[in-house]
Amino acid sequence: MKTFKLLINGKWIESSSGEFFTSINPANEKSIGKFQKGNEDDVNQAVDAAKRAYATWKKVPPPKRGEILFKFAQLLRKNKEDLARCVTQEMGKVIAEGRGDVQEAIDTAEYFAAEGRRLLGHTTTSELRDKFSMTVRMPVGVFGLICPWNFPTAIPAWKIMPALICGNTVVFKPATDTPLCATKFIELLQKAGAPPGVVNLITGSGTDVGTPMIRHHDIRGISFTGSKRTGEFIIKEAGMKKVGMELGGKNGIIIMDDADLELALDGVIFGAYGTTGQRCTATSRIIVHEAVKSKFEKMLISRIKKLKLGDGLKTTTDVGPLINKPAADKSHKYVLIGKQEGAKLLCGGNYYGTKGFFYQPTLFTDVAGDMRIAQEEIFGPVLSLIPIKTLDEAIDVMNNIEYGLSSAIYTKDVNSGFKAISEIETGLTYINSSTIGAEVHLPFGGVKGTGHTREAGIHGIDEFSDVKTVYVDYSGKLQKAQIDD
Ligand code: UN1
Repeated sequence: MKTFKLLINGKWIESSSGEFFTSINPANEKSIGKFQKGNEDDVNQAVDAAKRAYATWKKVPPPKRGEILFKFAQLLRKNKEDLARCVTQEMGKVIAEGRGDVQEAIDTAEYFAAEGRRLLGHTTTSELRDKFSMTVRMPVGVFGLICPWNFPTAIPAWKIMPALICGNTVVFKPATDTPLCATKFIELLQKAGAPPGVVNLITGSGTDVGTPMIRHHDIRGISFTGSKRTGEFIIKEAGMKKVGMELGGKNGIIIMDDADLELALDGVIFGAYGTTGQRCTATSRIIVHEAVKSKFEKMLISRIKKLKLGDGLKTTTDVGPLINKPAADKSHKYVLIGKQEGAKLLCGGNYYGTKGFFYQPTLFTDVAGDMRIAQEEIFGPVLSLIPIKTLDEAIDVMNNIEYGLSSAIYTKDVNSGFKAISEIETGLTYINSSTIGAEVHLPFGGVKGTGHTREAGIHGIDEFSDVKTVYVDYSGKLQKAQIDD
């Protein structure tokens, strides 16, 4: 088995810990690589390197930084199949989605490469004569990026690309479950010409690597995607750092009585069981009008029963494994909770197979909006159907949770669609499509317990830059704002 290293200051080196961990293919539990167990000492070295590199990188004109990002996009394209297979082998999602993951990284690299020729500020008027006012974008400094495993190339791209184009340098800690994808990703970025120290990679655990990053004085910004619990810990520990957060979701699809049920069915199956339910945007609640409830339940059951579980590398597979054993156990725990709460199990509800971390696509019905299975993020293939009588009730159920990431409504009535847009409390609302499938040139993020950061799109620049306000007074005398004369 190959042993991989850390990237610090442009060199692939071993951790001073002298310890290792292995990455496992969740479809068959085979090891796919041995990785350095990074520690605080490695973090300190990486931050020093990033700090030194920042002094020169921040002065590189943004379009020149963009050239490296364009080159990186080309390299990703060239290596798309290899990386996609790596995503499937290390994370488990089916190969079509593995390719989608890498495509999202390519799109993001191209989008932010071009941003090097914009990075717009704004100009405005002044209340005084002969005075010019504008804003410019400033880099923040060294950024610590803490990424999840569910999008092993797309989410690092969402963070690393805007961070670099804005002139920051980064220390990247990938999830412990997906270090191989991260290593391949960073190898390509180095090949694209990222100078030594501009991008550093430290593999290892949240406690050994993440916590020292969050507390490090010379890290000026943290960007984190992951659980609400870890997010809350980061907020407490990060002091005055600039902090970006993408936390959990408990996303719902409303299906009204006038909905195209076939279309809604496709959206629910893709949203709930695509990526085995392991997206922050995954559909975990369907809020269905009682007039179509029993018909839709039958349609769902028949479709769910046809889903094929297996290794995501097989093109016949519809649903891959969960990321690890605790994740499969978590889905099962919630199934037991759902049963105890009195929800009715319509299909699934158990582990699957003898090797790998598979769990059956599961559907509960007659779920009440305040049950735990309808409130807590499961991050697995467990879906709850909540019946409602009116759109107002549906919107109340949709909003009655701590999270606010994604939502959807299926209806043919334009008034219902616009009411949903204006009253649902989420960062994303889809009309007549599923809760998943965000595109990179639009902002992505949530409200409430999901956090309020926006990544991707033009707003993604805000997370990785500070705005400086500039006044140029060319009157040749002291002019005083707000003082009458
Ligand atoms: C996530 O699950 O954290 O919209 C990201 C989507 C993907 C991104 C999901 N483009 O589902």
